[in-house]
Amino acid sequence: MSDPGYTINAAYTHAKTSFVKKALSTPVRIVFATNNEHKVKEIRTAVGENLKIVSLREAGIDIDIPEPWDTLEANATEKSSTIHRLTGDNCFSEDTGMEVAALNGEPGVHSARYAGEDRSRNANIDKVLRKLGDNPDRSARFRTVISLIWQGKEHLFEGICEGHIRRESAGATGFGYDPIFVPVGDTRSFAEMSAEEKNRYSHRRKAADQLVAFLRKASQPE
Ligand code: IMP
Repeated sequence: MSDPGYTINAAYTHAKTSFVKKALSTPVRIVFATNNEHKVKEIRTAVGENLKIVSLREAGIDIDIPEPWDTLEANATEKSSTIHRLTGDNCFSEDTGMEVAALNGEPGVHSARYAGEDRSRNANIDKVLRKLGDNPDRSARFRTVISLIWQGKEHLFEGICEGHIRRESAGATGFGYDPIFVPVGDTRSFAEMSAEEKNRYSHRRKAADQLVAFLRKASQPE
């Protein structure tokens, strides 16, 4: 005769195992506080199936969040806390700057509007190339700061990609300064790479890896 205690235990263990498996395989839903579709695509490529990234547009939020501060950290916090205040949801934002050594870290936190309030991507690139001129020191880096608000508490993650600035633009993919930035370990600019190739090196992917690792741990059932 079978032991009823054993049968109940086995049924309990089975139910718990399938609950835990389901919980682990259900991606965490999280709002990404950005209107930049390039960033959404890159972060989605970086996190794969681990997270369900919801853009502001998909969350039905039509807002242009200001970036008034002079550090990437403060701007990232501004964006995530604004969305958290509005929705109460777990969310994250990121702020990125390209820091050129010979320009004392410019454009840095001012990367988006380096050539002026209404200037284009090409105007920003031209300004960097003009200011660098023939300077043989072309070293530069991208730095991304992610601000995550998880269960009401903020966590910051940083990703850095070292590289150098080309003498002229090359390539047509990506966005921003991609055509003039070559990461250490490659000879092509970011704009000559697919999203997957850029992610091998990318500052944003490195910060996103830390975000995923944190959320994996934080969202596991007890
Ligand atoms: P923000 O994080 O939206 O403030 O980005 C600032 C600016 O940095 C963007 O408008 C782009 O010009 C530039 N930028 C940010 N991330 C990247 C990148 O991965 N590649 C090239 N340019 C970038």
